[in-house]
Amino acid sequence: MSDLEAEITELWDNRDDVTAVMPEAEASALVRAAIDLLDTGQARVAEVVDGEIIVHEWLKQAILLLFRLTNMSVTETGPFEFRDKIPLKRHYEASGVRVVPGAQARWGSYLAPGVVMMPSYVNIGAYVGADTMVDTWATVGSCAQIGARVHLSGGVGIGGVLEPPNAVPIVVGDDTMIGSRCIVAAGARVGTGVVLGAGCVLTGSIPVIDAETGEEISRGHVPDWCVAVAATRPRTFPGGDFGLACVLIVKRLTEGERHDKSKLNEILRERGVST
Ligand SMILES: CC(C)(COP(=O)(O)OP(=O)(O)OC[C@H]1O[C@@H](n2cnc3c(N)ncnc32)[C@H](O)[C@@H]1OP(=O)(O)O)[C@@H](O)C(=O)NCCC(=O)NCCS
Repeated sequence: MSDLEAEITELWDNRDDVTAVMPEAEASALVRAAIDLLDTGQARVAEVVDGEIIVHEWLKQAILLLFRLTNMSVTETGPFEFRDKIPLKRHYEASGVRVVPGAQARWGSYLAPGVVMMPSYVNIGAYVGADTMVDTWATVGSCAQIGARVHLSGGVGIGGVLEPPNAVPIVVGDDTMIGSRCIVAAGARVGTGVVLGAGCVLTGSIPVIDAETGEEISRGHVPDWCVAVAATRPRTFPGGDFGLACVLIVKRLTEGERHDKSKLNEILRERGVST
């Protein structure tokens, strides 16, 4: 355990009165040092190790402490006024990220080189891997971990998971394409090389069913290398028969295979949308 991790944990344990541990200004500086690690990608809230998601709780605690230790402040740009506790991310040229006007990422999120942000939003603690496209009106919630070469299509909602600190954030694997207006939230996980059809709702409660076998293979976890679409499953209630949402795996891909309709990202880059 690093010194910083131990200090943040101690502050968290005394979060109702951090001055019992150290002066507030010192506590605030430590918390900010932890957030800087997230902002620069030197640390991340969660990562996949041997297929398992490991959550680094102390970094989430740092985010929660930041909210407690920071006062609201008002900023203005042109006719716009904002009132918040956390500044926006900066230094995009140095980090090799393209940010189209209207896009916003908060300090404490990490955007790897080659990321393109169309007018979209990335919240604190989120990690977005290299060459990923965050398309128009897509939102990446707090602490979500998005892989490299991913396409989050227009209007995709990746849920934020902040509390409790040990809660597992949303993880989306490398080389995945999330279709327009998908909702991926609350306990969902998308594997590597997945194509998720437009309009899917995936949460930890939604059955993921293999169309080939009819088997429910998980709740909320789409496995690596497949094409999955929004579907319904029949459910009988006292009031009648209804279709409840599920996600249906309609095709298995071989590792490294790109589904034809998931090539939009590459096409956009070839046409000059590269950074
Ligand atoms: C999932 C997707 C990749 C499938 O494409 P495909 O492999 O060419 O599949 P097809 O069009 O042949 O459709 C296969 C079947 O799945 C169904 N299907 C396709 N997409 C679906 C979706 N999003 N939701 C539910 N069903 C879908 C089709 O109706 C078809 O049914 P059928 O076999 O009875 O005819 C594609 O439909 C999709 O959703 N792409 C995302 C588009 C997008 O969001 N682009 C981003 C723009 S910013």
